[in-house]
Amino acid sequence: MSKIIPQNFIDDLLSKVDIVDIVGSRIKLRRTGSNLVGLCPFHTEKTPSFTVSQSKQFFHCFGCNAHGNTIGFVMQFERLSFVEAIENLATQAGLTIPRASGYHDKVRYNELYQITEKTSAFFEQQLPRSSRAINYLKSRGLTGEICKKFKVGYATSDWENLRSIYSSSPITKQHMITAGLLVNKENKTYSRFRDRIMFPIHDTRGHIIGFGGRAIDNDPAKYLNSPETPIFHKGEELYGLYEAKKADRSSLKSIIVVEGYLDVIALAQFGVTNVVATLGTAISTKQIQLMLRNTSEIVFCFDGDQAGRAAAWRALENSLPLMRDGIQIKFLFLPEAHDPDSLIRKESKEKFIKRLESAIPLSDFFMKQLAYNVNINTIDGKAKLTKTGKELLKKMPQGIFHQLLSSKIAELANINVEELKNYDFSQSWTAAPTNQQAKKEELSNQLKSTNKAVIPIIIQNTINILLHHPELVCHIDDTSDIKNIKISGIDILLELIILLKNQQNISMGAILEYWRDREELEFLNKLACKEPIIPKDILKNELIDIIQLLKQLEREKAIQLLLAKAATQKLNPEERKELQHLIETSKK
Ligand code: CTP
Ligand code: MN
Repeated sequence: MSKIIPQNFIDDLLSKVDIVDIVGSRIKLRRTGSNLVGLCPFHTEKTPSFTVSQSKQFFHCFGCNAHGNTIGFVMQFERLSFVEAIENLATQAGLTIPRASGYHDKVRYNELYQITEKTSAFFEQQLPRSSRAINYLKSRGLTGEICKKFKVGYATSDWENLRSIYSSSPITKQHMITAGLLVNKENKTYSRFRDRIMFPIHDTRGHIIGFGGRAIDNDPAKYLNSPETPIFHKGEELYGLYEAKKADRSSLKSIIVVEGYLDVIALAQFGVTNVVATLGTAISTKQIQLMLRNTSEIVFCFDGDQAGRAAAWRALENSLPLMRDGIQIKFLFLPEAHDPDSLIRKESKEKFIKRLESAIPLSDFFMKQLAYNVNINTIDGKAKLTKTGKELLKKMPQGIFHQLLSSKIAELANINVEELKNYDFSQSWTAAPTNQQAKKEELSNQLKSTNKAVIPIIIQNTINILLHHPELVCHIDDTSDIKNIKISGIDILLELIILLKNQQNISMGAILEYWRDREELEFLNKLACKEPIIPKDILKNELIDIIQLLKQLEREKAIQLLLAKAATQKLNPEERKELQHLIETSKK
């Protein structure tokens, strides 16, 4: 999605708007030195720890660790998606988002939306014509009214049941295949959904993006869903969210997450409309994020059995990175052999709501599962508990909730919170080797090591220097002779250097935008929040030293390769010349 908006427009936008205005128009800021501070809007505090840097175009809260650039602030503060935040900022800046370079994507998306829309209307039309389908829905206790609300439809058993959509219209079979509605196999096309009750799936803006289809008889594949298409990504969307938002015009007090389409619809029929379901996959962080843009409380409903508890634990792990203060996540385990659909029908709306109210807070479930299977009266048990606990805590942002869980874990392990903290392997600036020889050793070791997941502190520091002082890039002349060196993190460093060389006066906030949606963003954000408190000219020398060192390592490797070759065969004149040159330059 984010790729629809051209990157150069995002650059322009970020250079036009000022984070100080954007934040300042929403919360009260006070100037202190070069920064501005205020009360953090993302957690409750009495003394300001929310800092905005104008030069860096970045904000950071030392209390809850919320941080980001201008776009990130608008997304979090207004609870908007990336594209919505850009639209919001563009309006404020009086810019029009150019659609030119993303024009093709845009048209294609709209075409696909039209197809799914038409198809859904067509399925809906077919429903009353099939007594089989109607009887099935009746047997499930669903009213005509609720089926209309969810646009429930029926796909007939005809292998070409969508013929009328693509014959005699600009819609081609290829379009239908792209939309996931036709299957193309051995040069034959046929309808994916046949003899199924159809549930259209909406995105939050109301586009139909895909379908779930339930078999009426005992088909071995009870459910068939749309495949991944350009507009449908299972792990990112939630069934029922659009309908839930429509049912409640004010913001949702809470969102209940269930497993099945039919659970969503049944609960809605009973007047519980704030319900969503995943699309047959485990709940993802993206989906939780999507919910938290619309509410501050989530209740996960799971089966009470072993599988349900395992699924709940996965949901918990995926929630941790989003556990900011003010957010409530709860778990409701259902009695055996019931899903929300059967339960609300057996009990009543009131009883179901009572159950929701008694849902277990995330912290309780967290502690219960953590202590499960661990004998905390033994040293081993304690170690295991603190280790797992710490790993989970690491996934969470700082804040009251983090503190609460830390102290609970410490209490359970019978140590104090400070001790628990010290279990941390924290990489601080000063932890890096300080002389050139030690640095070289660290890098050489990393070259030999197979653990590529760890980015050496030296490389981290280099990236850190450039993030906080992008203008220092002018002291790096050429990167062509370090581009082959196999050290983890070097690809990020090189990309950063090239970006900074091409974009003068870019702020740290705008740099980070280049990594949105990429794996490395979290790593870069961590560095962005860790300002090197060292005078700039020392940082400059440090930067120059490290680049020198990298060049030297690469030269030495090239020399070794050539010497190894020379031991077994004669080098050609170019190779000899190169070797000589390498040896001479490395003596300097
Ligand atoms: N699901 C799926 N494929 C299957 C089974 C299930 O994709 N073969 C997904 C569907 O999204 C379904 C959800 O998992 O809605 C939950 O499954 P289940 O509880 O079995 O379905 P229900 O919606 O409760 O449907 P029913 O009550 O008719 O069994
Ligand atoms: Mn069910």
